[in-house]
Amino acid sequence: MTQTQSGEDPTEVQNSSLSSSMYSCENLPNHVVTIVMVPFPAQGHLNQLLQLSCLISSYGLPVYYVCSATHNRQARIRANALNPSDIAKIHFHDLPTPEFDSPSPDFNALSKFPSHLQPSWDASMLLREPIASFLRDISSKAKRVIVVHDLLMSYNVQDVSSLPNVESYVFNCISVFTSFCLQSLSGGRMSIQHEEELLKKLPSLEGIATDEARDFSASQRRYMDIRSGDIYNTSKVIEGKFLDLLTQVASDQNKKNWAIGPVLPTKLDRISNRENICLDWLNKQPPRSVLYVSFGTTTSFSDREIKELAMGLEQSKQRFIWVLRDADRGDIFTEEARKVELPEGFEERVNGVGLVVREWAPQPEILAHSSTGGFMSHCGWNSCIESITMGVPIAAWPMHSDQPMTGFLVTDVLKIGLIVREWEKREELVNASTIENVVRKLMASEEGNVIRKRAEELGEAVRQSTEKGGASRMEMDSFIAHITR
Ligand SMILES: *[C@@H]1O[C@H](CO)[C@@H](O)[C@H](O)[C@H]1NC(C)=O
Ligand SMILES: *[C@@H]1O[C@H](CO)[C@@H](O)[C@H](O)[C@H]1NC(C)=O
Repeated sequence: MTQTQSGEDPTEVQNSSLSSSMYSCENLPNHVVTIVMVPFPAQGHLNQLLQLSCLISSYGLPVYYVCSATHNRQARIRANALNPSDIAKIHFHDLPTPEFDSPSPDFNALSKFPSHLQPSWDASMLLREPIASFLRDISSKAKRVIVVHDLLMSYNVQDVSSLPNVESYVFNCISVFTSFCLQSLSGGRMSIQHEEELLKKLPSLEGIATDEARDFSASQRRYMDIRSGDIYNTSKVIEGKFLDLLTQVASDQNKKNWAIGPVLPTKLDRISNRENICLDWLNKQPPRSVLYVSFGTTTSFSDREIKELAMGLEQSKQRFIWVLRDADRGDIFTEEARKVELPEGFEERVNGVGLVVREWAPQPEILAHSSTGGFMSHCGWNSCIESITMGVPIAAWPMHSDQPMTGFLVTDVLKIGLIVREWEKREELVNASTIENVVRKLMASEEGNVIRKRAEELGEAVRQSTEKGGASRMEMDSFIAHITR
């Protein structure tokens, strides 16, 4: 278990032009507050903490991003909508990657929960010692160390409690609405009397995860009390009511919280100038005319489901960009792609109307593009908040975990989307005519236009909140002021 003083694995430096500059703890002036980010090794989580890293580092604070070598590499090569020069300021500290199986997803499973990732999550439980030793080292040289970690890494950062100048904050990768619902429904500290009517209409929690995954998550919660506070990637503009309810509970427990979202890079337009097949194609389409179809990094479809989706899109006669990918494996670098068969002649028939891409797509830029008018999504929080921020309405097709609740937030609370299929029908095949109907309704109907208008207004308000003097910006300033106090 070698740990370099520089915070970098030297082999990475030679191999990768994406490597950050070296930063030696030895050089840290000891008045400095140092930030250590500890992400959970799955794409949606890696990405969020990397963006937060860049944001914190823009305040001139040194930021370390600490994860296994494999996942640090993944975070860097897939960095979306981030400026390479901002990423270069982050000090990636590679922990030795524990060995784990990296099977392919089960395309035909009735449940969409990505249980093939479980071995990599289990392996993450072996990172406690290397993280502790990194923290001991760095905390001996800094005035104060601030650990910002994923909720699902709570077990691994528990040694924070034995280091006097280290404190930890949980970065929540789900919506405040979902946190609120989960706490209410699990009969926790949140009383169900709030929002009782709403909670009655929620999709059930059945089938959202495997027992192993629930156990995994429960084993993290045991260490949650160590934290000093919570950070949420959301905005008062989106979930103010639920944020107030959670803040109430948090302050009863003496924990602070901040709603610093949406954390979007500020110079999206400049980054967007880069060459990309999706963006080039979008440039040639009429305003608000394109449906962007993507199901994130943890969803796989069977051949049959893909065929129905393809036919539904074609029959809708609407323009689309479809990101056709399987779920990630635990180690994305072991991936051999399945060759997905589209219906005979599909790509020729939709030529000019639809674009199928099989590689990594620049999602924030696509959503920000003026030709994009809708998003068919699995409703991961990342995707939803990106869509909300860009003012794009959502065709919600939740697959697992927090997604059914996030879908409910989008369709029933914020009313900026339509549901593709009810959670209760999750084990039924979604056929082409269902897809066709929902796409038409969202992209080409009066009802769709009303929803789009509402989404655009919300997006506008959210974007304003990130500007100087806006609510989110002030929350971020307040977090920085707190940790550098
Ligand atoms: C927060 O939300 C934005 C969308 O507004 C998303 O692009 C980003 O990945 C998230 N960032 C963090 C730090 O969670
Ligand atoms: C497609 O599914 C919907 C909803 O389950 C159902 O009502 C409809 O009859 C199906 N259509 C076809 C053509 O199978």
